[in-house]
Amino acid sequence: MNPIKVNHLKFSYDLETDVVNDVSFTVEKGSYTTLIGHNGSGKSTIAKLLIGLLEKGSGEILIDDLELTEANLDVIRRKIGIVFQNPDNQFIGATVRDDIAFGLENHQVDPALMDDIINNYAARVDMSKYLDQEPTRLSGGQKQRVAIAGVLAMKPEILILDEATSMLDPEGKSEINALVNALHKEYGMTILSITHDIEEVKKSDHVLIMFEGKIVKDGLPSEIMIDEKEMISLKLDAPFSVKLANALKRRGIVLKETLDTERMVAELCLLRSKK
Ligand SMILES: Nc1ncnc2c1ncn2[C@@H]1O[C@H](COP(=O)(O)OP(=O)(O)O)[C@@H](O)[C@H]1O
Ligand SMILES: [Mg+2]
Repeated sequence: MNPIKVNHLKFSYDLETDVVNDVSFTVEKGSYTTLIGHNGSGKSTIAKLLIGLLEKGSGEILIDDLELTEANLDVIRRKIGIVFQNPDNQFIGATVRDDIAFGLENHQVDPALMDDIINNYAARVDMSKYLDQEPTRLSGGQKQRVAIAGVLAMKPEILILDEATSMLDPEGKSEINALVNALHKEYGMTILSITHDIEEVKKSDHVLIMFEGKIVKDGLPSEIMIDEKEMISLKLDAPFSVKLANALKRRGIVLKETLDTERMVAELCLLRSKK
C-alpha cells in the first residue's frame, strides 16, 4: 500500500495550459520524500490536488490505495496533514490555543487530553508564550511555527509541507526540521516536503524534480543531484557540495565524493596528507 500514488495527473487553472501535465509518482510508506522545482513549476498545485482543494482535470490520485473522490474526501483528509506556503490562509481560531484545538477537535481527539497535547506541541515549536495571542498578530515565521504545531499535534499518517518554513531564519528552519525528523522517526509518518532547501533534499529518501508542470527526475538524491549543469538547466540551485567539488575540479582536484560534505573533507585531508 502506498500513502500517495499519482497516475497521469493533469490540471489547468484556465483550461488552456496544463500547469500539472501528465504527472505520475509514488511516495512510499514511511519515506521522507522531497519535491523541488523552479517557481511556478506546479508544486503547490500538486499539494492542493492531493488533498482535494483543487479538482483534477484527468488522471488518478490514490491515498493509501483509496481513490480521491468527493465521496472519499473526508476519510482521506483525516489521513493527511498539510502546512501551506502562506500561513495566513490557515488560521481559524481566535487565539493560537483555539486554533490548535480546532484541528484536534476535527480529528476527534479526547477533550481530556487536548490541553496536554496543545501545550506539548506549542513548546516543541517554541510558541508556548503565544498560546493566548491572536494568530493574526504574529510574525510570518511565528505563524508558520503555529501552523506546524497544529498539524503535527494531529499526528497525521501523511504530512505534506509546502515550503512550510520559508519565513523562518536558518536557525528556526533547522529547529523545525529537527522536530519533523524526530516525529518522522518516532511514529513513521510519511513525509512529502516541497522545499528549496537543498540540504534537506540531500538528506531525504527520495526526490522528485518538477520542471514546467512535469516531473522530470525521480529517484535517490545521490543519483539525481550530482550534475550542476543539469540542475542549472532545471532552474535549480546545485548543492553547495556539488558546486565546491566542481570548483576544485577546475583547479585540478578531482574528488570521488561530491554530495556528502563530511566525506569530501575527509577525502581532501587524505589528498593533502599524501602530498
Ligand atoms: N489560483 C491560480 N489561478 C491561476 N493560475 C495559478 C493559480 N495558482 C497558481 N497558478 C499558476 O500555476 C502555475 C503553477 O503554480 P504553483 O503550483 O503555485 O507553482 P510552485 O508552487 O511550483 O511555485 C504558475 O504558473 C502559477 O502562476
Ligand atoms: Mg508553491
